[in-house]
Amino acid sequence: MTDEIINLTAFDGAALDRAFATLEHQARTAAASLSTEADVEAFRLQWLGRKQGRLNDVSSRWLKSAPPEAKKALGLRFNALKVVVEGLLDSATGAGPTDAALAAEAIDITLPGTRRLTGAEHPITKTLNELSGIFAALGYSIGVGPEVETDFYNFESMNFPPGHPARDTQDTLVVANQERRPLRDRLLLRTHTSPVQMRTMESQPPPVRIVIPGKVHRNDAQDATHSPIFHQVEGLCVDKNITFSDLKGTLDHAMKALFGSSVKTRFFPSFFPFTEPSADVQISCIFCGGKGCRKCKHSGWIELLGCGMVDPAVFAFAAEKQPGYDPKKISGFAFGMGVERIAMMKYGISEIGSLYAGDMRFLGQFA
Ligand code: PHE
Repeated sequence: MTDEIINLTAFDGAALDRAFATLEHQARTAAASLSTEADVEAFRLQWLGRKQGRLNDVSSRWLKSAPPEAKKALGLRFNALKVVVEGLLDSATGAGPTDAALAAEAIDITLPGTRRLTGAEHPITKTLNELSGIFAALGYSIGVGPEVETDFYNFESMNFPPGHPARDTQDTLVVANQERRPLRDRLLLRTHTSPVQMRTMESQPPPVRIVIPGKVHRNDAQDATHSPIFHQVEGLCVDKNITFSDLKGTLDHAMKALFGSSVKTRFFPSFFPFTEPSADVQISCIFCGGKGCRKCKHSGWIELLGCGMVDPAVFAFAAEKQPGYDPKKISGFAFGMGVERIAMMKYGISEIGSLYAGDMRFLGQFA
């Protein structure tokens, strides 16, 4: 930009506007093509240089030759042009953010937001809570007990005497180096939630209605439907005149509440050391409605839980601490069920391992 500053001959408003518009246009055009630091410095000298700068030229030629009445109008326009030129220089030197920088910082409101994962109950927890809720609605309270249990609570008080073969069906991990302790005090990982029956009875006189959700351990090889660590929900009801009909009615109701009102139940003789008589409960197959399919091995029935009337030998252990548990005066029933098995049936899960793998693609389906 080497255009000389022409001499002004007219000083009316329109002539001044035209003259300053031409200068501003020249300044903007020159500023738009600046790329290197040297370009910017040349622009600064050309427009704002103290001796040969164009604004200096304008000031000395135009302001000085202007008639007194035009000086104010000319001065105002001169100052405005100076502000524009200084602004152009500022943006060229990066004093303010460049357009490119502003664009990089800008928020693209068309992008999707960050999605936060909300937590959800694990299917085992969900099933535990659902089962506990069904019994809570029947007036049961919820109890828990320790996972590391003594031989006494896990076995002896549940009427598995030392050396009894029924102990072999519930092999488990035992805490090492306890040989000096009496057998009843030795610690093991509980094999069922039944020890909490005894802990509950020892701590409160009858009547008792309690559900006990919890984790249990057994020396079982892992396969599609077994895991050495799993969960149970235990139930205990003790009062005057509790009969096997109460047990049947309660479990029939619970299975209908869990799987739907069309489900039927049936009771088969079984054996547990701590109940007499004992029964296995079967429900009509929820997959085929009882007609017979692969899932129920074409029998129409699926075995789901164990139960029975509390054995008088168990009450005798409880009566040592709470004399109210006199089997001549009270009676009761107990039941226990595997939570994984129920969850797998309810949600159509074929591998028990899916419940423990922590794979979000699996767990996310329950959210
Ligand atoms: N504790 C038994 C088991 O784990 C289940 C059960 C509980 C049976 C209560 C009868 C009464 O196999």
